[in-house]
Amino acid sequence: QTIYLADYMAPGWLVESVHLTFRLAPQATRVLSRIAFRPNPDSPRQPFFLHGEDLRLIAASIDGTPVTPQLTATGLTCDVPDAPFVWEAEVEIAPADNTVLEGLYMSNGMYCTQCEAEGFRKITYYPDRPDVMGVYTVRIESDLPVLLSNGNPVASGDGWAEWHDPWPKPSYLFALVAGDLVAHHDTFTTMDDRTVDLNIWVRAPDLDKCGFGMGALKRAMIWDEQTYGRAYDLDVFNIVAVDDFNMGAMENKGLNIFNSSAVLANQATSTDADFQRVEAIIAHEYFHNWTGNRITCRDWFQLCLKEGLTVFRDQSFTGDLHGHAVKRIEDALVMRNRQFQEDAGPLSHPVRPDSFVEINNFYTVTVYEKGAELVGMLKRLVGDDGYRAALDLYFDRHDGQAATIEDWLACFTDATGRDLTQFKRWYEQAGTPRLTVRDDFKDGTYSLHIAQETPPTPGQPEKLPLHIPVALGLLDDTGAEVLPTTMLELTGASQTFTFDNLAARPIPSILRGFSAPVIVASTPPAGERAFLLAHDTDPFNRWDAGRSLARDMLLDLIRQDGGAPDAGYLDGLRATLTDSGLDPAFRALVAQLPSETDLAIALAAAGETPDPLQIHRVRQDVRRHTAEALSDILPRLYADMQIQSPFAPDALQGGQRALGNAILMLLSERDGGAAAQAQFDGADNMTQQLAALGALLHIGKGEDAAARFHDQWQDDRLVLNKWFGIQITMAAPEEAVDTAARLTRHSDFLWKNPNRFRSVMGALSAHPAGFHRADGAGYALLADWLIRLDPLNPQTTARMVAGFDGLRRYDADRQALIRRELRRIADTQGLSPDTTEMVTRLLQ
Ligand code: ARG
Ligand code: ZN
Repeated sequence: QTIYLADYMAPGWLVESVHLTFRLAPQATRVLSRIAFRPNPDSPRQPFFLHGEDLRLIAASIDGTPVTPQLTATGLTCDVPDAPFVWEAEVEIAPADNTVLEGLYMSNGMYCTQCEAEGFRKITYYPDRPDVMGVYTVRIESDLPVLLSNGNPVASGDGWAEWHDPWPKPSYLFALVAGDLVAHHDTFTTMDDRTVDLNIWVRAPDLDKCGFGMGALKRAMIWDEQTYGRAYDLDVFNIVAVDDFNMGAMENKGLNIFNSSAVLANQATSTDADFQRVEAIIAHEYFHNWTGNRITCRDWFQLCLKEGLTVFRDQSFTGDLHGHAVKRIEDALVMRNRQFQEDAGPLSHPVRPDSFVEINNFYTVTVYEKGAELVGMLKRLVGDDGYRAALDLYFDRHDGQAATIEDWLACFTDATGRDLTQFKRWYEQAGTPRLTVRDDFKDGTYSLHIAQETPPTPGQPEKLPLHIPVALGLLDDTGAEVLPTTMLELTGASQTFTFDNLAARPIPSILRGFSAPVIVASTPPAGERAFLLAHDTDPFNRWDAGRSLARDMLLDLIRQDGGAPDAGYLDGLRATLTDSGLDPAFRALVAQLPSETDLAIALAAAGETPDPLQIHRVRQDVRRHTAEALSDILPRLYADMQIQSPFAPDALQGGQRALGNAILMLLSERDGGAAAQAQFDGADNMTQQLAALGALLHIGKGEDAAARFHDQWQDDRLVLNKWFGIQITMAAPEEAVDTAARLTRHSDFLWKNPNRFRSVMGALSAHPAGFHRADGAGYALLADWLIRLDPLNPQTTARMVAGFDGLRRYDADRQALIRRELRRIADTQGLSPDTTEMVTRLLQ
């Protein structure tokens, strides 16, 4: 059943207060609810309806008088007074049987909840929509030692605890945890001088993995005070680590629940990338306290209102802490490798979709990351001060409300006077705009002609021009800036910008800092890009010039089916790698070749049919040639990147390890794995141990190391996920599917755990040359497992069906094989609505 934004109706009944009692038992938990309702004065009288799914109703009453509601497929209706009343109900649920991991479920003997988006209706009957906000009091009865819910602790005794959350909230922010847990504790003093108790709750063996996350939480709390003037608003802030979790983490008010992979970290078990991810997710969930919780979404179509903004905030936080240049490149890579791909295929949708069947299918890179890009563009258009004024107004005006994108944009207009009518199209129009640029120079005047075009996407054949901030700099032939970064505003389908009084024709640096999520389709001449790679004052464009040269070089080699990279590329790479004035993290990014997916997208966009095996082979050839051409500098560079001081998960050391590991991959092409084996044997941290294992697996010499790695880490489920994943990621194309199939037969393949399932099936679908094996064995393996997982966990199944998203790029044979598997999934008896929606969109 499809839901439309246009059909929004305000709720007929509002909630004043909610009192919940949980009598926990694995098979028969009783949930008692007492809810004070009142008619919504701003809405016409509507029949009283409460959502409810998989609930056994024991009893219900209104103002103390028992009633017999009419049960429907999705909830219940009941005759109610035309005035405020108190609803009471008792229901029974079975958390131990809940494999969907939505609502109240169990993970390793602990009770936990996931309610966003629509899981609360699996806990009790309720108007489970974000524009109904109530004040919750929760009583938990259980013998388990730790009993947690939202807000502040009120009282507790033997076998019970009570919590009260003074801030009205929608049901999707409700949370409850009960388990045998221990806390890593700390405190934080807010800017208004209140002391907050901070806890990260874990199972006892994980206590040595909490320190980093706690530090990250405190960094996030200070940053939000200093950058946005937002302080925390309760006496306690609890984080709980859960092993079985569909997504990364959840911002429940005062009680964030995390996938253990997104909070636990230490030197021995976590890579630098893990540390950075943990810090970013902890910050993200914390930042939701203001952007999401204090101001929430009117309905789920407005999801980007909280997610785009909160991603933008966590990106800014990471940039402030670790450097904006590298962070911007990483974020642009996510856009190009994942969001542009989503936009180019059958799953393309606007940042604010206008219809859905299952909202969980729209927690996408478009809503999140492109949503964050829209916030970044707004900031570029109104400037730093304008942005701060708009945000202050937003917090001021909408605190305690469930808001919309219209409300959000109105704050920018009211605070800055900017007309954002055209900008709003970014929220409504799907697809990636393509810019074509032409320039000329005459009599001291430089003219830049920019045209924009957005290709059609499903359901949106016609596209209108967007309001696009294009950051431009002009350089002279020494690399000096003739025009420092200037924000051009492209609003027409095509437009000309002129610059007078120039002594000579300048070299343009366009879309600096990736100022808009667009593709610049016209590439400047190679000489100009080589110049920008050497001289651009904008680090993003400097990197991007090198990237663009590498991509063209690879595309040429793919078209001629192999060969050696040209001298220009190798010289540029040599100069960059050995430039000790450049941040090692930046150099590591320059050393990275465009991904196989990036190249496949580029070929498809040029109207060619990519051959995934050939792309893999050519990339591998280039790596081998590069290793040979740079063999004089690699050993020294590798040695320079080895760190003598004690391990720290910081940007400086992380950059050095990243560059060292990039060099290690090249060295392994020529030394038979000697350097990688030495690094594997001597590593005192997971970043180096895992990279060394990867390098060995890549050259087919990793069997021993993989076995030893398993022995060492067999009791650490998070590290074991890496062990599963890397064997597939690093497998040769012809072996990837067999490796994945073999791993699914391993006794540690606990496939009901979403992280473990993803570590195998996610790694397979992310290995284009392996997954797109010509005989379709990769497609069949993934489909088999998705069909198996769907009845247990539709959410994770539906997300992973998106692995078939690239189907339109490939040749007719592969497309036919993919369609056959998608149809096989679609025809499965009792397939979930979640997966059905995804498969249907993919097949359209
Ligand atoms: N709001 C969470 C976050 O962005 C994501 C939770 C989504 N979960 C879900 N089942 N849809 O951090
Ligand atoms: Zn979020």
